[in-house]
This record gives sequence, structure tokens and C-alpha cells, in this order.
Amino acid sequence: MRTQVGIVGAGPAGLLLSHLLALRGIDSVVVETRSRAYCEARQRAGVLECGSVQVLREAGLAARLDRQGLEHGGIYLQFGGKRRHIDFRDLTGGGTVTVYAQTEVVKDLIAARVAAGGAIEFEIGDTEVSAITSDRPVLRYTSPDGTRHEVECDAIVGCDGFHGICRDAIPAGARTVWEAGYPYAWLGILADVAPSTDELIYCHHPAGFALHSLRSPRVSRLYLQVAPDEDIAKWPDDRIWDELQRRFALPGWELTEGPVLEKGITPMRSFVSSPMRYGRLFLAGDAAHIVPPTGAKGLNLALADVTVLAGALTSLLAGGRSELADAYSDACLERVWRATHFSWWMTTMLHATPGAGPMESQLQLSQLRYVTSSRAAATSLAENYVGYRPVAMPG
Ligand code: FAD
Ligand code: PHB
Repeated sequence: MRTQVGIVGAGPAGLLLSHLLALRGIDSVVVETRSRAYCEARQRAGVLECGSVQVLREAGLAARLDRQGLEHGGIYLQFGGKRRHIDFRDLTGGGTVTVYAQTEVVKDLIAARVAAGGAIEFEIGDTEVSAITSDRPVLRYTSPDGTRHEVECDAIVGCDGFHGICRDAIPAGARTVWEAGYPYAWLGILADVAPSTDELIYCHHPAGFALHSLRSPRVSRLYLQVAPDEDIAKWPDDRIWDELQRRFALPGWELTEGPVLEKGITPMRSFVSSPMRYGRLFLAGDAAHIVPPTGAKGLNLALADVTVLAGALTSLLAGGRSELADAYSDACLERVWRATHFSWWMTTMLHATPGAGPMESQLQLSQLRYVTSSRAAATSLAENYVGYRPVAMPG
């Protein structure tokens, strides 16, 4: 088999990349270990930056997003018994984010690839990449029926997430990794109840962080800070709601409860692997970098990487020019480090570090008062949240 671009992973990064390449006349093959149903149901992100929405729109992928996405012009920060609004539109000259679940982005992308006759193979195994320093890198995988395939490519892109195999195909001596863990995790629920808020609430509380997000006008998504080794079996639904009630409590406001549709625990880490390219192997999205979810950057970074990469690969493979491919890693890492800092800053401002004592909490409260009272500080938060710098479709 032969293709121009072999793409490992049918998450948001791999799927959008294959679509953007197809729009530019470049063919690709996407291989994915999980089933289509699993990829479409995996609960993850919920917030798109304006740049991400713009890219999806310009790529003709936003028909449902434009109907069902909920545009938000700000967030609430709750701390010390008060809830303060950060007005993105006012602070950034009209900037907004859009609440539209990653599950829906993935469904839209798969539907578009399938409708266009794009090659996506689900439920494959034993993915291997080789000859990545040659002009003909090779992707190998096994189909669900047991057939082993060998695909000769012009370039391979690892969009296979944090636990994928592509990053490790780059020799350890040729890459640098930065990593930081956090002494907490998020317990997330999806609840069949209308959100009790019009915009997301990020809540600082002595017992730990809580977040009220949403998936639609009828479905809420809520998170609680818990210990990293927390056992989900110890969190029956009543205990989750009790803890959410305690952390979000505010006189005159009510958190409405409803049936819990799904629950899970997400560990948190910051991770960057550089460079994002080695020979003809490129990395994009979570395969190269991970941020903690506070600040909603992961999905947006993944979409931004492949938007830049689609332009670079087109220039390389259709135009015979290597400048953009050579600049790919540095161009992406600049945005990645900004988002890595912002996510770390939001995380450490809002979470209670076990055993940290009262000093941490006073510093956090001072910072929260500052970002909700100083226009300069609020503008910095707003600018980062709506996306800095917004990614744009390559010409
Ligand atoms: P993934 O979505 O991880 O996709 C990688 C794909 O590769 C997977 O389908 C995997 O099955 C496949 N794969 C792995 N190994 C192989 C292999 N060897 N061969 C073939 N296929 C393979 N981000 C935001 O921007 N906003 C948010 O609000 C937000 N909230 C989040 C909340 C939670 C609870 C979590 C867990 C994450 C959140 N994120 C958020 C992060 C976001 O979900 C990820 O950054 C995003 O999924 C990255 O997309 P990706 O395509 O790079 O990787
Ligand atoms: C979500 O809706 O899942 C979500 C929203 C904002 C975040 C993280 C997750 O910062």
C-alpha cells in the first residue's frame, strides 16, 4: 500500500489533519486502535477557542457546531464566598469560547471523512513506524481480520495521544522532555440535568477545586478535585452531589442535581516533548504535549498543531518546499509553552495542595482578588483563555 501521509490515531488531531490534507489534495490513511463507537463516546474536553471554531468553520466542518455550540463570553471565578465574572468579550475586544463537546467534534470529523471516502481503519493492532529518517517512512499495522499491512508513506504523523507509540520512535538522545505532576486528580461526572449556570464556574474552596461546566442546555458536566489515587468506588452519586453542593454553596444560588450518566477520574500532568518532528515523523496533539485540564487547552492545542501541520505538509509534499516543515516544531511549541504555563497557573491558583498549609491559600486568594479586580490581570486571563495566539488556516 502507498499513501502520502500515514496518520496514527483517530482523535481530534488525526481526524482533522486527514480532512485538512484532503482539502488540499493530499491523500492519507488513518489507523486507530479503538472502535469508531469508542472514539465517538470518549468523554473529554468541552470548550473550543475562537480560533478552533474558525478553523472548523473554514474547513466546512461546523454545520452542527454552529447550530448546537453554545457561545460563552466569559467565565466565573468563585472564591472566599463570592462569585466574580470575567468578561472575555469586553476584555479581549469580542473574544469568546464555544461549548461543544469533543465527542461531537470527533463525530463530525469521522462523518466528514467517511462521507468523503477517506481511509480510516478502526480496531487495528501492533502499530509500527520505521524508516522515519528516509523519504519513504513505513507504517505497519494489523487489521481486525488479522491481515498485516505495510503502508509506504511520504510522511508519518503521530496523533496517537499521550500513550501512543510514535513519540518513542524518536531516539531518546534526539529529544528533550519536560514533565510535572500534580498531587491531585479530577473526578468528573456527566449529569442528566440542565446546568445551574449560564457560564462555567471555576471554584476555589478550602476542601479543593470544583468546576461546573456543561455539554448542552440539558446536560451538565461537573468536576471535583480528589486525591490522585482516589478510588471511584468510594464515590457513590450522593457523595459526589454532597461534595459539589458544599464547594459551590453560595447564598441565593442553587445547584440542581440529576441522574449521573457517567463518572471517572482523570490524572493531571504537564508534559512537553521537543522537537515535534524527527526526519519524516511529525508529532501532533497529546502525543507531544499534555496540559492539566484547568483552562481547557488540550483539545485546542491538538487542533492548532494539525492546522499548522496541514500547511507545512502540503508545502513539502505538493510544493517540494521544506521551510514550513522545518519551522513546524518551533511554531507549535511557542503556543504549547504559552498554554502549558497558563494551564499550570490556573491549576495552581485554584487547587488545594495537600499539606500545603494556610500560606498557599492566602496567596491564591490574593491572586484571585487581583485577577477579578485589576483590568490588566483579568485581560491576561481572558486573552489566554480565548486563545493566544489564535490559530489561523494556512492559505
Ligand atoms: P487523543 O484524543 O488522545 O487521540 C489519540 C488517538 O490515538 C486515540 O483515539 C487512541 O486510541 C489512538 N491511539 C493510541 N495509540 C495508538 C496506536 N498505537 N495505534 C493507533 N492508534 C492509537 N482539552 C480542551 O481543549 N478543553 C477541555 O475542556 C478539555 N477538557 C478535558 C477534560 C478531560 C477529563 C480530559 C481527559 C481531557 C480534556 N482535554 C481538554 C484534553 C483533550 O481531550 C485532549 O488534549 C485531546 O483529546 C487531544 O487530542 P489528540 O487527537 O491529540 O489525542
Ligand atoms: C469540560 O467541559 O470538560 C471542561 C471545561 C473547562 C475546563 C476543563 C474541562 O477547564
